Amino acid sequence: MYDNNPTLEGIKTIDESKQGSVLFKEQWQDAHVPGGKKFYIESYGCQMNFSDSEIVASILHEVGYVPTRDVEESDLILINTCSIREKAEDTVRKRLRFFESIKQRRPGTVVGVLGCMAERLKKKFLEEEKLVDLVVGPDAYRDLPNLIGGAEDGRRMVNVLLSREETYADISPVRLESNGITAFISIMRGCDNMCSFCVVPFTRGRERSRDPFSIVAEATSLFENGFREVTLLGQNVDSYKWENPETGEQVNFAGLLEMTAQVHPDLRVRFSTSHPKDMTDDVLYTMARYDNICKYIHLPVQSGNSRILEMMNRTYDRPWYEQRIEAIRRILPDAAVSSDIITGFCSETEAEHQDTLSMVEWAGYSMSYMFYYSERPGTLAARKYADDIPEDVKKRRLNEVIRLQNAVSLRHNQADIGKTFRVLIEGDSRKSDKDFCGRTSQNKMTVFPKKESLKPGDYVMVRVKDATSATLLGDIV
Ligand code: SAH
Ligand code: SF4
Ligand code: F3S
Repeated sequence: MYDNNPTLEGIKTIDESKQGSVLFKEQWQDAHVPGGKKFYIESYGCQMNFSDSEIVASILHEVGYVPTRDVEESDLILINTCSIREKAEDTVRKRLRFFESIKQRRPGTVVGVLGCMAERLKKKFLEEEKLVDLVVGPDAYRDLPNLIGGAEDGRRMVNVLLSREETYADISPVRLESNGITAFISIMRGCDNMCSFCVVPFTRGRERSRDPFSIVAEATSLFENGFREVTLLGQNVDSYKWENPETGEQVNFAGLLEMTAQVHPDLRVRFSTSHPKDMTDDVLYTMARYDNICKYIHLPVQSGNSRILEMMNRTYDRPWYEQRIEAIRRILPDAAVSSDIITGFCSETEAEHQDTLSMVEWAGYSMSYMFYYSERPGTLAARKYADDIPEDVKKRRLNEVIRLQNAVSLRHNQADIGKTFRVLIEGDSRKSDKDFCGRTSQNKMTVFPKKESLKPGDYVMVRVKDATSATLLGDIV
């Protein structure tokens, strides 16, 4: 549908799975300012970062910049960075080497670093990376036109101020890499938790929630433009809290979910990430009341052992986490739950690692994001605990968790064989243009042969006939 849109040439991010860009039409038309400068942006890290890049694109568009997918022809190269693990930062530095080689060939090019690594390293970045012109933290994107102006005059510009208020609520993001069907909406920024391993509170600042009416307006506009699914994003969505400054009326996450679900019964609502300490039964009951709130919860456990959880400062223990899973099973019996897991955290014993394995088995996660511990400078753990598990042990434990999770995922998916699910068609399957793909409410990717009359954005009933650990295969019924 968007294939003739020249702005498809627009943007590249590292997420190759989301091919095809779309700017909303109105935005696209006036994006073609004659002689307009071109920007290129690459994004790393979590969905919040990808979502921020869409805000950045919108701010740049306002001052006449046109997106390009070809870094070689861009006047402005931006890299939106992640600091969560050392590897993420290494990748960014490698990309910078490449951008700097372009700058050497085309001296006028401005190179800017955005996001979490910019915030973590601040001015130091300019000392370490001699060819970087701009360092801009996640709360300073409104200042970009001004900073770019300074860089064009040959100055090196930094703005890494964190804010207690900024939510970019009034900026309508330019949808970059989009299938035109599913979109992310940031509902809050920052994080007030202090998980000892985590750099996010330092790079993203204090937690603040966005005005719910601006969220609902964004969801409504997406729906009117053909989108059929929104994912509400925050580091800890369960602590969403907004107070109307005039009336004192309060909206919590359950309230926001309900408001978003009411936009239209055909607009699916997802959210991420839930925190085990804050996820309330109220949220689960709200999910149960609305068919269009997807029955899927990402509830990262991190470790299955209470002593490690305490050292991680997650503020829950294993029994508390188990009781949250039991609440989900009771209130939402058909919901899928997924997790994040870290292996080899400071002082973790083999027996404690076994507790993580037994948690994967007991919780029966549909899938997990799994990592080995990477010490981050400045975090509580870096200051208080020795990073004393050898890398080969961390990796071996990680492989054990991955192997088990794959088996649990396969079992979870095989249990769906013979059942029928409502699937939202997202587009062609990756392997064949004879097949569509889309997800079930439980967030399982489903592949099935196309039918003439159907198109992306339609809902279909699919009967599952086979399954791998990652995908359901079926037929339209
Ligand atoms: N706010 C989310 C997580 C955001 S970061 C939450 O609280 O669940 C995404 C995941 O990266 C985390 O859940 C954790 O599993 C992993 N992670 C964060 N810091 C890490 C580190 N220092 N080493 C390894 N993995 C880490
Ligand atoms: Fe990091 Fe914990 Fe905040 Fe998640 S909740 S972003 S892991 S500090
Ligand atoms: Fe990375 Fe920052 Fe997200 S550190 S995971 S991009 S909040």
